Amino acid sequence: MNANTNSASPSEPLGSDVDLVINPVLDPVDWEARYQAGDTPWDEGSAAPALTEFLSRHPILGEVLVPGSGPGHDVRALATQGPSARITGLDLSAAAIALARSLSHSPANASGEHYMQGNLFNLPESWHSRFDWVVEHTCFCAIPPALRSDYVRAITSVLKPSGHYFAIFYLNPAAPGGPPHKTSREEIRQLFAADFELLEEWLPKDAFEGREGREICHLWRKSYKTISRL
Ligand SMILES: C[S@@+](CC[C@H](N)C(=O)[O-])C[C@H]1O[C@@H](n2cnc3c(N)ncnc32)[C@H](O)[C@@H]1O
Repeated sequence: MNANTNSASPSEPLGSDVDLVINPVLDPVDWEARYQAGDTPWDEGSAAPALTEFLSRHPILGEVLVPGSGPGHDVRALATQGPSARITGLDLSAAAIALARSLSHSPANASGEHYMQGNLFNLPESWHSRFDWVVEHTCFCAIPPALRSDYVRAITSVLKPSGHYFAIFYLNPAAPGGPPHKTSREEIRQLFAADFELLEEWLPKDAFEGREGREICHLWRKSYKTISRL
Protein backbone atom coordinates (compact mmCIF):
# COMPACT_ATOMS: atom_id res chain seq x y z
CA MET A 1 0.00 0.00 0.00
CA ASN A 2 1.20 3.47 -0.78
CA ALA A 3 2.22 5.03 2.52
CA ASN A 4 0.66 8.33 1.45
CA THR A 5 -2.75 6.88 0.69
CA ASN A 6 -4.40 8.96 3.41
CA SER A 7 -2.80 12.21 2.39
CA ALA A 8 -4.98 14.82 0.79
CA SER A 9 -3.66 17.04 -1.94
CA PRO A 10 -1.86 20.09 -0.56
CA SER A 11 -4.23 22.41 -2.36
CA GLU A 12 -7.30 20.81 -0.78
CA PRO A 13 -8.81 22.86 2.07
CA LEU A 14 -8.24 21.48 5.55
CA GLY A 15 -11.90 21.80 6.46
CA SER A 16 -13.93 24.44 8.17
CA ASP A 17 -13.43 25.58 11.73
CA VAL A 18 -14.68 23.19 14.37
CA ASP A 19 -15.64 24.28 17.82
CA LEU A 20 -14.34 21.46 19.99
CA VAL A 21 -14.21 21.75 23.74
CA ILE A 22 -11.49 20.01 25.71
CA ASN A 23 -12.50 18.40 28.99
CA PRO A 24 -11.92 21.18 31.57
CA VAL A 25 -10.90 18.57 34.16
CA LEU A 26 -8.02 17.52 31.93
CA ASP A 27 -7.02 21.11 31.15
CA PRO A 28 -8.07 23.60 33.82
CA VAL A 29 -6.84 26.59 31.79
CA ASP A 30 -9.57 28.56 30.04
CA TRP A 31 -7.50 29.64 27.04
CA GLU A 32 -10.41 31.47 25.45
CA ALA A 33 -10.95 33.58 28.58
CA ARG A 34 -7.23 34.38 28.72
CA TYR A 35 -7.27 35.73 25.14
CA GLN A 36 -10.52 37.61 25.65
CA ALA A 37 -9.06 39.29 28.75
CA GLY A 38 -5.79 40.06 26.94
CA ASP A 39 -4.04 38.02 29.66
CA THR A 40 -1.45 36.47 27.33
CA PRO A 41 2.04 36.95 28.81
CA TRP A 42 3.42 34.30 26.43
CA ASP A 43 2.76 36.58 23.44
CA GLU A 44 6.15 38.14 22.67
CA GLY A 45 4.92 39.86 19.53
CA SER A 46 7.23 38.01 17.15
CA ALA A 47 8.24 34.53 16.03
CA ALA A 48 10.38 32.39 18.32
CA PRO A 49 14.06 33.37 17.83
CA ALA A 50 15.05 29.68 17.62
CA LEU A 51 12.59 29.18 14.77
CA THR A 52 13.93 32.22 12.91
CA GLU A 53 17.46 30.87 13.34
CA PHE A 54 16.47 27.40 12.10
CA LEU A 55 14.71 28.87 9.06
CA SER A 56 17.88 30.79 8.16
CA ARG A 57 19.65 27.47 7.54
CA HIS A 58 16.84 25.01 6.77
CA PRO A 59 13.55 25.49 4.88
CA ILE A 60 10.30 24.09 6.32
CA LEU A 61 8.19 23.51 3.24
CA GLY A 62 5.05 21.67 2.16
CA GLU A 63 2.05 21.25 4.46
CA VAL A 64 3.06 22.59 7.88
CA LEU A 65 1.06 22.47 11.12
CA VAL A 66 1.68 24.80 14.06
CA PRO A 67 -0.34 23.48 17.02
CA GLY A 68 -1.35 26.02 19.67
CA SER A 69 -0.44 28.82 17.30
CA GLY A 70 -1.97 31.62 19.43
CA PRO A 71 -1.44 35.02 17.75
CA GLY A 72 0.26 33.31 14.78
CA HIS A 73 3.72 34.89 14.86
CA ASP A 74 5.40 31.56 14.08
CA VAL A 75 2.85 30.84 11.33
CA ARG A 76 3.65 34.15 9.66
CA ALA A 77 7.41 33.59 9.89
CA LEU A 78 6.96 30.21 8.21
CA ALA A 79 4.66 31.67 5.54
CA THR A 80 7.33 34.17 4.46
CA GLN A 81 9.19 31.24 2.86
CA GLY A 82 6.90 31.60 -0.14
CA PRO A 83 4.40 29.54 -2.10
CA SER A 84 6.07 26.17 -1.42
CA ALA A 85 4.96 26.38 2.20
CA ARG A 86 1.33 26.07 3.28
CA ILE A 87 1.14 26.79 6.99
CA THR A 88 -1.84 25.97 9.19
CA GLY A 89 -2.08 27.42 12.68
CA LEU A 90 -4.38 25.44 14.96
CA ASP A 91 -5.69 26.81 18.24
CA LEU A 92 -8.39 25.89 20.70
CA SER A 93 -9.29 29.52 21.28
CA ALA A 94 -11.57 31.36 18.86
CA ALA A 95 -10.20 34.68 20.14
CA ALA A 96 -6.64 33.55 19.40
CA ILE A 97 -7.63 32.56 15.87
CA ALA A 98 -9.38 35.92 15.34
CA LEU A 99 -6.29 37.74 16.64
CA ALA A 100 -3.99 35.73 14.36
CA ARG A 101 -6.20 36.45 11.36
CA SER A 102 -6.28 40.16 12.20
CA LEU A 103 -2.46 40.22 12.23
CA SER A 104 -2.29 38.32 8.95
CA HIS A 105 0.39 39.35 6.49
CA SER A 106 -0.06 41.26 3.29
CA PRO A 107 -1.85 39.33 0.52
CA ALA A 108 1.53 38.48 -0.97
CA ASN A 109 2.19 36.10 1.89
CA ALA A 110 -1.34 35.39 3.02
CA SER A 111 -1.81 32.59 0.51
CA GLY A 112 0.41 30.34 2.62
CA GLU A 113 -1.03 31.39 5.97
CA HIS A 114 -4.11 29.60 7.32
CA TYR A 115 -5.78 29.32 10.71
CA MET A 116 -8.22 26.87 12.14
CA GLN A 117 -9.92 26.68 15.49
CA GLY A 118 -9.77 23.15 16.86
CA ASN A 119 -8.57 20.79 19.52
CA LEU A 120 -5.27 18.99 18.99
CA PHE A 121 -6.74 16.05 20.88
CA ASN A 122 -9.76 15.72 18.64
CA LEU A 123 -8.68 16.30 15.06
CA PRO A 124 -10.62 15.55 11.88
CA GLU A 125 -9.84 12.24 10.19
CA SER A 126 -8.82 14.08 7.04
CA TRP A 127 -5.73 15.28 8.94
CA HIS A 128 -4.26 11.74 9.20
CA SER A 129 -0.83 11.64 7.51
CA ARG A 130 -1.48 15.08 6.10
CA PHE A 131 1.50 17.20 7.11
CA ASP A 132 5.13 17.28 6.00
CA TRP A 133 6.12 19.20 9.11
CA VAL A 134 4.83 20.02 12.56
CA VAL A 135 6.42 23.04 14.25
CA GLU A 136 6.15 23.14 18.04
CA HIS A 137 6.61 26.23 20.18
CA THR A 138 4.92 26.63 23.59
CA CYS A 139 2.05 24.23 22.94
CA PHE A 140 3.67 21.14 24.52
CA CYS A 141 4.48 23.10 27.70
CA ALA A 142 0.98 24.63 27.83
CA ILE A 143 -0.99 21.39 28.02
CA PRO A 144 -1.19 19.43 31.27
CA PRO A 145 1.69 16.91 31.53
CA ALA A 146 -0.89 14.10 31.88
CA LEU A 147 -1.82 14.75 28.23
CA ARG A 148 1.70 14.44 26.82
CA SER A 149 1.21 10.91 25.48
CA ASP A 150 -1.95 12.14 23.74
CA TYR A 151 0.04 15.05 22.34
CA VAL A 152 2.64 12.68 20.87
CA ARG A 153 -0.12 10.48 19.44
CA ALA A 154 -1.70 13.53 17.75
CA ILE A 155 1.61 14.74 16.27
CA THR A 156 2.44 11.22 15.05
CA SER A 157 -0.96 10.90 13.43
CA VAL A 158 -0.98 14.11 11.46
CA LEU A 159 2.53 13.67 10.05
CA LYS A 160 3.17 11.84 6.82
CA PRO A 161 5.56 8.88 6.99
CA SER A 162 9.06 10.39 7.22
CA GLY A 163 7.51 13.76 8.12
CA HIS A 164 9.51 16.14 10.31
CA TYR A 165 8.83 17.54 13.76
CA PHE A 166 10.78 20.69 14.72
CA ALA A 167 10.29 21.64 18.35
CA ILE A 168 11.43 24.30 20.76
CA PHE A 169 10.81 22.81 24.19
CA TYR A 170 10.64 24.95 27.30
CA LEU A 171 12.71 22.93 29.78
CA ASN A 172 12.40 24.80 33.04
CA PRO A 173 10.01 27.74 32.93
CA ALA A 174 9.99 29.99 35.96
CA ALA A 175 6.30 29.40 36.67
CA PRO A 176 5.63 27.30 39.74
CA GLY A 177 2.79 24.89 39.06
CA GLY A 178 2.54 25.97 35.41
CA PRO A 179 1.57 26.36 32.73
CA PRO A 180 4.10 26.48 31.24
CA HIS A 181 4.99 23.04 32.56
CA LYS A 182 8.60 21.91 32.69
CA THR A 183 10.03 18.94 30.85
CA SER A 184 13.42 17.30 30.39
CA ARG A 185 15.57 16.06 27.55
CA GLU A 186 15.10 12.53 28.86
CA GLU A 187 11.30 12.81 29.00
CA ILE A 188 11.13 14.17 25.46
CA ARG A 189 13.38 11.43 24.12
CA GLN A 190 11.30 8.80 25.89
CA LEU A 191 8.02 10.19 24.55
CA PHE A 192 9.09 10.33 20.90
CA ALA A 193 11.62 7.49 20.59
CA ALA A 194 9.11 4.78 19.66
CA ASP A 195 7.88 6.38 16.44
CA PHE A 196 10.55 8.96 15.61
CA GLU A 197 14.25 9.21 14.89
CA LEU A 198 16.08 12.12 16.52
CA LEU A 199 18.05 13.92 13.78
CA GLU A 200 19.38 16.88 15.75
CA GLU A 201 19.34 18.29 19.25
CA TRP A 202 20.75 21.68 20.24
CA LEU A 203 20.53 24.52 22.71
CA PRO A 204 19.32 27.62 20.86
CA LYS A 205 21.66 30.62 20.85
CA ASP A 206 18.76 33.09 20.71
CA ALA A 207 15.72 33.17 22.97
CA PHE A 208 13.14 35.64 24.23
CA GLU A 209 14.19 37.59 27.32
CA GLY A 210 13.75 35.39 30.37
CA ARG A 211 13.88 32.15 28.37
CA GLU A 212 17.64 32.17 27.77
CA GLY A 213 19.16 28.78 28.63
CA ARG A 214 15.72 27.34 29.35
CA GLU A 215 14.96 25.90 25.91
CA ILE A 216 16.12 22.93 23.87
CA CYS A 217 15.50 22.36 20.17
CA HIS A 218 14.81 18.98 18.62
CA LEU A 219 14.47 17.88 15.02
CA TRP A 220 12.76 14.50 14.70
CA ARG A 221 11.73 12.46 11.68
CA LYS A 222 8.73 10.18 11.91
CA SER A 223 9.50 6.57 11.16
CA TYR A 224 8.42 5.52 7.70
CA LYS A 225 6.77 2.42 9.17
CA THR A 226 4.67 4.19 11.79
CA ILE A 227 0.95 3.88 11.16
CA SER A 228 -1.02 7.06 11.76
CA ARG A 229 -3.90 6.86 14.18
CA LEU A 230 -5.95 9.53 15.96
C1 LIG B 1 1.19 29.35 25.87
S1 LIG B 1 0.15 29.61 24.52
C2 LIG B 1 1.33 29.77 23.19
C3 LIG B 1 0.76 30.38 21.94
C4 LIG B 1 1.80 30.58 20.82
N1 LIG B 1 2.46 29.34 20.49
C5 LIG B 1 2.80 31.63 21.22
O1 LIG B 1 3.96 31.29 21.48
O2 LIG B 1 2.41 32.81 21.30
C6 LIG B 1 -0.52 27.99 24.24
C7 LIG B 1 -1.54 27.97 23.14
O3 LIG B 1 -2.03 26.62 22.97
C8 LIG B 1 -3.43 26.67 22.76
N2 LIG B 1 -3.96 25.34 23.14
C9 LIG B 1 -4.02 24.80 24.38
N3 LIG B 1 -4.54 23.57 24.33
C10 LIG B 1 -4.83 23.31 23.04
C11 LIG B 1 -5.42 22.22 22.36
N4 LIG B 1 -5.83 21.13 23.02
N5 LIG B 1 -5.56 22.29 21.03
C12 LIG B 1 -5.17 23.41 20.34
N6 LIG B 1 -4.61 24.47 20.93
C13 LIG B 1 -4.46 24.44 22.27
C14 LIG B 1 -3.91 27.81 23.63
O4 LIG B 1 -5.15 28.33 23.25
C15 LIG B 1 -2.78 28.80 23.44
O5 LIG B 1 -2.99 29.68 22.36
